[in-house]
Amino acid sequence: MGYGHNENFIGSDSYALKTMTNKISYLDDGDFCLLYEEKVEFYNFQKKKINKEIFELSQDDNIADKGDFKDFMSKEIDEQSLSTKKCINEYLDKTRNEINIYNLPIEPKKINKIRLIACGTAYHSCLIAKYWIEEFTSIDVDADIASEFRYRNVKLNKNDLYIFVSQSGETADTYAALEKCKINKVKTCGIVNVVESSIARLADFVLPIHAGPEIGVASTKAFLGQMLVLYLLILKISKERDDIDFDEYKKMILDLKKLPDFIKETLSKQNDIQVIAKDFITAKGTMYLGRGYSYPIAMEGALKLKELSYIHAEGYAAGEMKHGPLALIEDGMPVIVLAPKDRYYEKTISNMQEVIARGGKVIMITDDASTTMNENIRFKFQIPKTNSTLNSFLLTIPIQFLAYHVALLKNCDIDKPRNLAKSVTVE
Ligand code: M6R
Repeated sequence: MGYGHNENFIGSDSYALKTMTNKISYLDDGDFCLLYEEKVEFYNFQKKKINKEIFELSQDDNIADKGDFKDFMSKEIDEQSLSTKKCINEYLDKTRNEINIYNLPIEPKKINKIRLIACGTAYHSCLIAKYWIEEFTSIDVDADIASEFRYRNVKLNKNDLYIFVSQSGETADTYAALEKCKINKVKTCGIVNVVESSIARLADFVLPIHAGPEIGVASTKAFLGQMLVLYLLILKISKERDDIDFDEYKKMILDLKKLPDFIKETLSKQNDIQVIAKDFITAKGTMYLGRGYSYPIAMEGALKLKELSYIHAEGYAAGEMKHGPLALIEDGMPVIVLAPKDRYYEKTISNMQEVIARGGKVIMITDDASTTMNENIRFKFQIPKTNSTLNSFLLTIPIQFLAYHVALLKNCDIDKPRNLAKSVTVE
């Protein structure tokens, strides 16, 4: 509920109301209200009149202003160097190189398992975190889609930490999964962009991603923010448990500080992607392939292309190709291969050769400067070289650009793709 002067508003999340008012109240489950021009009356599920706390929304700059950009999505993609810098500054103590995350609901040394729960793009950030947790900690980990988790007979354990990731903090399935954990009294943490949101208010512990308002339905800068906060949280837990060597920890912090500049460099190559976008207009469908940290980005790339350009796309673990999807490859089919020079590189390249041999038109995204475009690799996008655990951030940018430019060529509504909503407040 938003309060104005002789007018009141109702919205599915606080961002929807921000251009009209900065004073809001939240309805809890079962509540209802009567909305008049000059007043709002609240009732609980027993029809008893109740009073509601009024929250003042934080003032963000440029809230609903596209500036010189064509649409919010291109603005939000462009903001990613600054938004990651802001987030790093919020969480890093510059002098001590310490990560300012304290008072987790379970002491790091006592965490038995971490369960990550979310929907859509936020779920993809959880999948990447799963790889990082396995890499940097001795903790068992699982990532779940919220709409599955909420109905499964999951064994909830008081020594496990349940992390809920959501840009809006209002997603119905993620909220219901969190409620299930709260009812069972296990420890919860919310990673959100909207700090006043329902998920932020219900979780035991909240880590904001500090990305600023994200208006475009396709999530871009919030995805990078979710990955970043998960990365910081995992490094912190790993250090507190002595799972990571201190010198390695310091090196990772130093590398992380350089990330906003690498993002900026990658953002400056937008024009390169425009060239290839037209290949997708006539395509029946496409595939994104990756291994390790690049696999969840392949899934994210496919989701972005689907939701923005309405072209069928799938993200696969490259090693799965032989188990079915290879049958789809035919002459001229565009296939995006995410192949940074990490420990999976050689394997990914061999999967790429299998695609080429069947006539697939490969678009390769890599940090390997030695591969050149040739008759087999139709297009190469080069990302800067960094610590391989940070590749996921940089690989994300070309796949955002690609989805954006294909959708633009197809005249699709960039900020409001058909059939979708920014906050999914119903199941
Ligand atoms: O607000 P949330 O992060 O909880 O939203 C989850 C998904 O609905 C969302 O990420 C969706 O998949 C995006 N539109 C994808 O770009």
